Amino acid sequence: MAFRTEACKIVGIERPIFGFSHSVAVTAAISRAGGLGVFGATMHEPAEITEIAREIRALVGDRPFGLDLLLPQSVGDDTDLATARAAIPQHYHDFVQGIRERHAVPPSRKGSFYTRNLRSQSLFAAQVEAALASDANVFAAAVGVPAEVIARARAAGKQTMALIGAPKHAQKALDAGVDVLIAQGYDAGAHTGTIGTFSLIPQIVDMAGAVPVLAAGGVGSGRHLAAALAMGAQGVWMGTAWLVTDEHRADPIVLEKLLAAKSDDTVISRSYSGKTLRMIRTAWSEEWDRPDAPVPLKMPHQQVLIGELLAAIREHRIAPLMWEAAGQSIAYFNEYTTVAEVMDRIMAEAQEAAKGLSALA
Ligand SMILES: Cc1cc2nc3c(=O)[nH]c(=O)nc-3n(C[C@H](O)[C@H](O)[C@H](O)COP(=O)(O)O)c2cc1C
Repeated sequence: MAFRTEACKIVGIERPIFGFSHSVAVTAAISRAGGLGVFGATMHEPAEITEIAREIRALVGDRPFGLDLLLPQSVGDDTDLATARAAIPQHYHDFVQGIRERHAVPPSRKGSFYTRNLRSQSLFAAQVEAALASDANVFAAAVGVPAEVIARARAAGKQTMALIGAPKHAQKALDAGVDVLIAQGYDAGAHTGTIGTFSLIPQIVDMAGAVPVLAAGGVGSGRHLAAALAMGAQGVWMGTAWLVTDEHRADPIVLEKLLAAKSDDTVISRSYSGKTLRMIRTAWSEEWDRPDAPVPLKMPHQQVLIGELLAAIREHRIAPLMWEAAGQSIAYFNEYTTVAEVMDRIMAEAQEAAKGLSALA
């Protein structure tokens, strides 16, 4: 039972495991283990994206890999960070200063992507250029699915995918002509919607017709893979799984929190990007739940507000405030492991589950 579905054939992989990561090493390891590694490039400048794609290609050889970008259409076209920072009402800066003082966070020396860039349509356009000019085999879009970008990616010879969290978004992605839909449920790590994975998948499968659907959100075992296939999905798309792998190299403070976390240790917060994002509960999420906390700003302004503080927290390793985006599947990842071990375990468990099902049938 190899589970080599149509989605696997479309992208040319052996196992129906599609893995999202912000790590080059993880992305490459997923592809090398027979799945499809997809690198999240949203926090990288265009020249970096070009370089990262080269690095991944050097690690995977002829095996396919993908690049993923967040392309929210609600974000405007302002590009001046200083003006955006100055436009934020003072009480927001005061609140952020309060977090800094309560936890004695020194200023950041290195900064980060968000202290140097303002998310804007022109930044997205430049990121798209770099991704499409790379030799990545797959292009995935999330948070928004601009039809013209999908058309250009297809014309550039890439397979296209789109993450969606609700039927209304699925129709848009289908109209744009994506090759594979990723239906991501509420359980998922990072940006997430309100519909549970089990409720979402069969609806999207029914809408998608011949277009393959992957199941995302809460996948932590082979039983989930078997269930996804039973619901008509053609594979799983996972993100949380890889955070505790050797290849990911999480900061030891964050790794310890991830290994200890259970499903209810994750919370949805707007404190990072302004959009709902599932993360592990830490002093960071609790600060933003205080009664005196302001309602987080909309994307991209929340990242303008907190960019420097977050960079400083990571740089100076302020343990209580260190967090990571993670989904409810974190409960299945309480051992430090490797990407290949995760993939082997999932395949073996899925085979057991499928045998159990066929015995019942
Ligand atoms: C740490 C982390 C960061 C993520 N960042 C992105 C991102 O930048 N772009 C994206 O499309 N999805 C992102 N995701 C979501 C994944 O693509 C995936 O849909 C999700 O992790 C699946 O649910 P799971 O976390 O239960 O495996 C992220 C997930 C995690 C855990």
